[in-house]
Amino acid sequence: MCPPPCQRRSLGGHTRSVPTACQSTVLFVLGCLWLVITMAEDSFIEDREELCELAPVAAAPIRCHVFVCTGKSCSAVGSAAVKEAFESELKARGILFGKEKKGKNPQGSVILTECASVGFCAIGAAVLIYPDGIWYAQVRASDVAEIVAEHIINGRVVERLALMTVSGADPGTAGILPA
Ligand code: FES
Repeated sequence: MCPPPCQRRSLGGHTRSVPTACQSTVLFVLGCLWLVITMAEDSFIEDREELCELAPVAAAPIRCHVFVCTGKSCSAVGSAAVKEAFESELKARGILFGKEKKGKNPQGSVILTECASVGFCAIGAAVLIYPDGIWYAQVRASDVAEIVAEHIINGRVVERLALMTVSGADPGTAGILPA
């Protein structure tokens, strides 16, 4: 339990209010909050060139974003292997955005990321491709070469695996003809 808000102590013949440990902690936390808010305001970057230097992906010619779900259920049916297969297939074609030292292409047009569960848990592994808004279900590593060749390169959806198209999406726009 906290001590009273302040304690009156006798200092050199005078009685003065001295902050308690509880008050000191509150003051410290408020000071930290002020510092964080001030720093956040100061660190907002408006210069687009500087932003692109800090995040090179912002200046890359990205045409396609592939998400592989690595939620618990998709992981149980091999989504890590699916992601690895995308990575090696896209690297082999030289279209995977990323650092050269990681075998990727800083001017690559495809970005590959993991995502959390999207609700296809019982029918994973889930793979989402944007801007096409196509959600693939039951994807296995052995399906990846076909998805890359057909969908990502040629803009043709792999219908046997595609379960859903996001409303308003324009399938076929992710095609990168020719690789
Ligand atoms: S865990 Fe992948 S969709 Fe739910």
